[in-house]
Amino acid sequence: MDKFVINGGKALSGTVRISGAKNAAVAILPAVLLADSPCIVENLPDISDVATLINALRRLGATVDVINKSTVKIDPRPANSFVVDKEMAEGMRASCYFLGALLGRCNHARVAPPGGCNFGERPIDQHIMGFRALGAQVKDSPDLVEAHADELRGCSVRLKMVSVGATINIMLAAVKAHGFTVINNAACEPHIVDLAIFLNSMGANITGAGTSTIKISGVETLHGTTYRIIPDQIEAGTYMVAAAATNGNVLIDNVTPRHLKSIIDTLVDAGADVSVFDESVRVKMTERPRCCNVLALPHPKFPTDMQPQITTLLSVATGVSTVTDGVWDDRFRYVEQLAKMGANVQVNGKTAIITGVDRLGPAKVKAVDLRAGAAMIIAGLMANGTTEVENTIYIDRGYENVAEKLQMLGADIKRVPVTE
Ligand code: EPZ
Repeated sequence: MDKFVINGGKALSGTVRISGAKNAAVAILPAVLLADSPCIVENLPDISDVATLINALRRLGATVDVINKSTVKIDPRPANSFVVDKEMAEGMRASCYFLGALLGRCNHARVAPPGGCNFGERPIDQHIMGFRALGAQVKDSPDLVEAHADELRGCSVRLKMVSVGATINIMLAAVKAHGFTVINNAACEPHIVDLAIFLNSMGANITGAGTSTIKISGVETLHGTTYRIIPDQIEAGTYMVAAAATNGNVLIDNVTPRHLKSIIDTLVDAGADVSVFDESVRVKMTERPRCCNVLALPHPKFPTDMQPQITTLLSVATGVSTVTDGVWDDRFRYVEQLAKMGANVQVNGKTAIITGVDRLGPAKVKAVDLRAGAAMIIAGLMANGTTEVENTIYIDRGYENVAEKLQMLGADIKRVPVTE
């Protein structure tokens, strides 16, 4: 295990280049199994979740050639298994996408239950509802989920709540089903659209991605493709908040600005100066953040995956702010780590009430999950003195070369092995 050691109190400045989107990559990699010839996937982020999925694809029998750090060529034809065991899944959330991909590929899937960051209950009942509506029998037991169909037939489903994962999994199972499928109350995140464009580049027939109604006309076969993954909306947002939180001046490059609108609006509310260019945004902050009220909801509203980061910024804002997470029931577990640095945050159900303090102080803190870990790094950058952030393993799941990218912005941050 490693930790990040940060000597904070310095304003970030310079340019950071954003990598490919984790949540698009983890959907597109399993989707390659639906093709009948090789796919080349470009702009993959160099993160452990991607490595885990590549390993799982190889264990399923697919061949994966690494072309360079961010490009792989995958030939799904040799894949001869429909089983993703616990070791292959490695407790990550996106392993459940193998359910939809293998069901779509060979009408059969047996996958260890998904893991992922701990925000309380993370059921997959809506995924299973979709598979059953498509004609699959699904057995959901504590140690595996098995789905099997003689034939998948198009259907119309309505998600009980907006679910990124269920939307993705139903798309994967439906693209080669016989007939027409409609997903109502579908998620609209940028990674949903990216997956749809990827599948359509393979010959699928999907319309409406990015709206709450996705329509899929099943096709017989899907062919290989070459596809470049979109930039990561949440990585970009994280560096935008880090720039504002350190009273810095940073150009965040290689982004899709329209994916960042709610983040930009919130940072402007908090007093940041944000300039938007074709493929980059500049964030400048010259004073203490202003308090504001933030509500995290499905896209295009403010992303829940930016909730810990914005709470950290607002912990030193003037006045009292609130951050409400309308997606997850229990995504404030990191607040006790922030409290070690002097933050004054009271959690009341799904809402954090943040009374701004003048400054955070250095401390030894832990990453309790992926985005909370990023927030702890931001807190360390804000605090004068030395902060240590343990459990870098969480952060490495979703942020490529985070220490190196921050060092390029002038941060004093090092990755240090933790000796037992
Ligand atoms: C995806 O998780 C992301 N993970 C999460 O990002 C993100 O927080 C979340 O979407 C919301 O945007 C990946 O893309 C790998 P959901 P997912 O299904 O698909 C409930 C990160 O930091 N629900 O949209 O698991 C669920 O409990 C990660 O990159 C059901 O009740 O989220 C939650 O309250 C963390 N039954 C809400 O819906 C279901 O069958 C939204 O969950 C499915 C979901």
